[in-house]
Amino acid sequence: MPRSPDRPGAERWVPEGADIDALAQAAHACRGCELWHDATQVVFSAGPPDAELALVGEQPGDREDREGEPFVGPAGRVLDDALEAARLTAGSVYLTNAVKHFRHVELPERGKRRLHKTPAVAHVRACLPWLEAELAAVRPRVVVALGSTAARAVLGAPARVGELRGRVLDAPERGAFPGAPVVVTTHPSALLRLRDRSGWDDAFDALVADLGTAARAARAA
Ligand code: URA
Ligand code: SF4
Repeated sequence: MPRSPDRPGAERWVPEGADIDALAQAAHACRGCELWHDATQVVFSAGPPDAELALVGEQPGDREDREGEPFVGPAGRVLDDALEAARLTAGSVYLTNAVKHFRHVELPERGKRRLHKTPAVAHVRACLPWLEAELAAVRPRVVVALGSTAARAVLGAPARVGELRGRVLDAPERGAFPGAPVVVTTHPSALLRLRDRSGWDDAFDALVADLGTAARAARAA
């Protein structure tokens, strides 16, 4: 998907040198891609602006879109549980997404239910100036990418989660924030599909282990 008139990229809406509050405020006006149009509101970030650990997800889901807060839906509950199991609290980490508006399709035959649609590479690229600006303001010691969309944004290249997960990767020169190493792990919504099924325990433990690796790397940095 090339740049198009309805997808100019977020640059022009991102105030230079702004802190997180100012960035979050400015993001309401963003028209960097077409995703704002069908979403309820922009979902920026949560957590302390001086956190040592920044977690990057994919995009807001249905609940996040309605509430204007990241990770308040089902995937957020899985993430909260995993953070707690890793002896972190959701309130101690900076939480954000690669894409700040909810991409979805409406299913009219099912009471207009809104179904998550994975953002395209072009949406990640259009939204990247926000992620760059917020990570430059937070200056985390370690960035955690939750899933492949986040990994692409954070590493600046296509990434296979299965191959990269759980290692402390060198600070990426081409990624959203060249100032900190990166830990890639699975997206918590991938675990939701395993709930009450075999595989849940292993998948949850692996997510907890990766978050623990990131926390230790942040402490050591
Ligand atoms: N999934 C994400 O990637 N981000 C959210 O904020 C919620 C669900
Ligand atoms: Fe702007 Fe990102 Fe929303 Fe697109 S998804 S309109 S680039 S904030």
